[in-house]
Amino acid sequence: MSENKNILLGITGGIAAYKIPLLVRLLVQKGYEVKIIMTNSALSFVTPETLSVLSKNPVYTSFFNEKKEWNNHIHLADWADIFVIAPATANTITKIANGYCDNLLMATYLSFTKKIIIAPAMDEEMWEHSTVQNNLNIISARKNHIILPVEYGELASGIKGRGRMTEPHHIFRHIEKIAQLSNQFRNKKILVTAGATYEPIDPIRFIGNRSSGKTGITIAEELAARGAKVFLVHSNIHIPLPKNPNIQNISTCTAQEMYNECINIFPLVDISILAAAVADYTPINTSSEKIKKSSEEIMIHLKQTKDILKTLGEQKKERQLLIGFALETNNTIENAEKKLLLKNADIVFANTCSEKNPAFNAEENELILIKKNGDIKNLGKHTKYILAEKVADEIATLIN
Ligand code: CTP
Repeated sequence: MSENKNILLGITGGIAAYKIPLLVRLLVQKGYEVKIIMTNSALSFVTPETLSVLSKNPVYTSFFNEKKEWNNHIHLADWADIFVIAPATANTITKIANGYCDNLLMATYLSFTKKIIIAPAMDEEMWEHSTVQNNLNIISARKNHIILPVEYGELASGIKGRGRMTEPHHIFRHIEKIAQLSNQFRNKKILVTAGATYEPIDPIRFIGNRSSGKTGITIAEELAARGAKVFLVHSNIHIPLPKNPNIQNISTCTAQEMYNECINIFPLVDISILAAAVADYTPINTSSEKIKKSSEEIMIHLKQTKDILKTLGEQKKERQLLIGFALETNNTIENAEKKLLLKNADIVFANTCSEKNPAFNAEENELILIKKNGDIKNLGKHTKYILAEKVADEIATLIN
């Protein structure tokens, strides 16, 4: 039995709601704690009494219970490890895509930050409607959202087609998979670097780069969700920092500060993933006052920074796994292979910065995995959330 054992089930008003008691039974039999929220329309298809008996918990149907006590959606969201919305009607999918908050289920959804599984169910015309498909695209680009495929078969209208909710045992299998993943990196300590270092020229200006830190942060979050204790050494991040008890956020600004933190943490960790875009050069002198505009041209003398990945590669012990990134504009694989060897890394994830794959501040990215043994694998072009899952999957194959 995994740690991820609290399942919150949201049921909306589709005929497939009649199948949810089966899912509740499967979960309870396997030792999961199940709590259920129903929308008003779901009450026409399955009774809260049935679900309460099966889940052994009260079922929530509105913001207030019969005693006029508030059903606290924040507590429900905190309590649950996985939120499953099944069946998810076209109406609820629209609300999820647009952030509506007109019932307890939606208020809880908006308060929930962990993995969400959505099992859509509707008639084929509705399923194929462009607004539904657009909404599903919006949702699937979000962190932590998994949309299960619909099945082909007899629909509520009596017509055969696509749009049936996937069967309860499939939903159960997905829940099991996510729950099991939550232990994959248990007892592993991982260093992740993210962001762009800024090298000060004077109190106002710096030399930096375009990295937002999203790749490193999504990887840190994914590994923490899979049970790792993560030290996230970040600098100049442009997205919200993770708020996760498994992640220790350590703030730095310059390459030297990031180096100092990494050197201190490195002996403690099993795995290091260096995703930060670290400046290769820093000004030899930093002016203590703002440099005033004067001559037509000025010179800023730079010196090389310390290479964190290379230093960790020199200090690496047999039990430690060292992973780097290589962002290239040309000869991507060849350059990345050189970096892997030079820096004594076990893996390098390479990507190309081009017009087609801007890499910075883009939702999607394409990564190529290069291993020390010469294996090369294209992980494909995906959102950074999906790539973080793929990166975690690949690392997992090397630790067990
Ligand atoms: N890296 C590092 N410390 C540095 C520079 C880079 O730890 N001072 C790490 C990056 O975090 C990344 C890997 O080394 O994991 C490759 O970074 P990259 O900038 O692509 O390579 P460089 O070695 O700096 O080579 P170049 O800039 O010439 O491509």
